[in-house]
Amino acid sequence: MRTKIVAGNWKMNMNFEEGIQLSSEIAKTYTKKNQEEVILIPPYIHLSKVKEVALAAGLKVGAQNVHFEKNGAFTGEISAEQLASMKIDYALVGHSERRKYFHESNQDLLKKIKALLAEGIRPIFCCGEELEARKSDLHFKTVAEQLKILWELSKEEFAQLVIAYEPVWAIGTGETASSLQAQEMHASIRALVKEHYGKPIAENCSILYGGSCKPDNAAELFEQADVDGGLIGGASLNSNDFLAIVNAL
Ligand code: PGA
Repeated sequence: MRTKIVAGNWKMNMNFEEGIQLSSEIAKTYTKKNQEEVILIPPYIHLSKVKEVALAAGLKVGAQNVHFEKNGAFTGEISAEQLASMKIDYALVGHSERRKYFHESNQDLLKKIKALLAEGIRPIFCCGEELEARKSDLHFKTVAEQLKILWELSKEEFAQLVIAYEPVWAIGTGETASSLQAQEMHASIRALVKEHYGKPIAENCSILYGGSCKPDNAAELFEQADVDGGLIGGASLNSNDFLAIVNAL
């Protein structure tokens, strides 16, 4: 059975106090039910404190980004080694906002994945098409292109990865992919994983949906056979909404 996951990506929101309060509220109410993983992904300034709060409640913590070099003169960047020294469990790689505003190339993303894996941190690799590609019926092709860098990983490396399918047109727009649209893309991602790494690895790979996932649509999305949970942006900033989505797992 693959792991069900709900991850809350706070993006560049929450001042220090607000972030601590949000994580404390979530930690106070959350009780681990099965083997699910609930991951808080705050900005860097919160990581250390949120890790403390999360640990006691059985929650995991992720970083929103990482630099691929180990250390050195890279002002403003944080390495996988530094994240590992704080016992960070996961890190996002290739979120569409990073691809768009920070021009992250596929080769950079592969280096980030390798740097994280070398430190025992699990990458959450994000993929998803823009509206144009969806309208032109190029969404499967676009996502298959984005996934190509993953096929350079060994089986053991790939087995550590979580994939998040986030159609760009659904992120922060209030327009969610229908459960059918999500399911067919997730199934096609899993089929590609199977082609490259075989059935057991494909069956074990958690594939999350992201893009305007809310308490009122989470259950229907998570019921789909190949949707193993969600990567939540806006709704992760409110503890009640976030926990309602967790409960929909
Ligand atoms: P959203 O963001 O839930 O606010 O659409 C999802 C994401 O970008 O991870």
